[in-house]
Amino acid sequence: MTSSPSNIYPVIWQDDKVFLIDQTRLPEEYNIVEIALVEDMAQAIKTMIVRGAPAIGVAAAYGMYLGAREIETNDLEKFLAQLEQVAQLLRQTRPTAVNLFWAISRMLKTAYESVGTVAEIKSTLLRTARTIQLEDLQTCQAIGARGLSILPTEPQKLSILTHCNAGALATAGYGTALGVIRSAWREQRLARIYADETRPRLQGAKLTAWECVREGIPVTVITDSMAAHCMQKGKIDAVIVGADRIAANGDTANKIGTYSLAIVARAHNIPFFVAAPFSTIDFELVDGSGIAIEERDAREIDRIAKTKICPPGVDFYNPAFDVTPAHLIEAIITEKGAIKPDELINYRSVVSY
Ligand code: MRU
Repeated sequence: MTSSPSNIYPVIWQDDKVFLIDQTRLPEEYNIVEIALVEDMAQAIKTMIVRGAPAIGVAAAYGMYLGAREIETNDLEKFLAQLEQVAQLLRQTRPTAVNLFWAISRMLKTAYESVGTVAEIKSTLLRTARTIQLEDLQTCQAIGARGLSILPTEPQKLSILTHCNAGALATAGYGTALGVIRSAWREQRLARIYADETRPRLQGAKLTAWECVREGIPVTVITDSMAAHCMQKGKIDAVIVGADRIAANGDTANKIGTYSLAIVARAHNIPFFVAAPFSTIDFELVDGSGIAIEERDAREIDRIAKTKICPPGVDFYNPAFDVTPAHLIEAIITEKGAIKPDELINYRSVVSY
């Protein structure tokens, strides 16, 4: 595979197996887990061993191949029927990131359109999964380069705030929001990155900070509630976040807390950018009201590390994502350039399922 300057690959294909960086263990431990069966891949996506929209897409593509490999029949019709079940298993893992569904659809389409024996179709599926992975790496590097040209020109070295982890760990290996930030760092346009800790799973404090420290990018971690204060104090020049699903009108689902960040950025006249590949755009949805928002286990809120924090008897609500209305977004930075949300619809033909 083409290498990424980050040198972080959350999904690795080697020796006929998939290996994942266990993102639930970082930064304390760098553990690699082996995935040989589609059931294990589905579980890894559900439990967030692998997470982040494009990385979930890549993992699901390999999951489709692993599932295909397990199918024993040589009868094409039976094979395709069982492959549909594999797709269904993977679709049920996480509802919000459209890259998951995009990758599964692309793998299914490949199988239906391939000519040849079942064994040949299986080989084609593996090649397609590898292509999806490679394309994401290239796409993110293009997003990084495109993003540079839209960043504020003043000051020369920017302080950029990001939320969650939209980095190498969340993609095939470079990042979307963090990809733009990486590119800014290489071009000496970055003073510092502010990383929201991102309650409750702490992807900012754990994963974004880990990636930055590894690469020598100056990073300041703040709690989510400190973002408005940092903006008021003039510490932030721009905000860049990733996305899990973007509707045709530009409404964007991303990690919970993104919406409030967009509101405070607007209140302080700070540009708010979304960086995402076209595989994150769902042109089937006219606006963000139709985006399924994953709700996760209450224990994610009721624990800090392993310590329970709330008294017995309270209720919890734990939506993992929120939707930022398009009017709060300066531009969506894609591999094809920065697009104003209201112009997104003109690119409909770029995405095919
Ligand atoms: O719940 P997660 O960690 O999978 O959520 C990840 C995010 O919200 C990211 O910002 C998004 O997927 C973009 S990743 C390039």
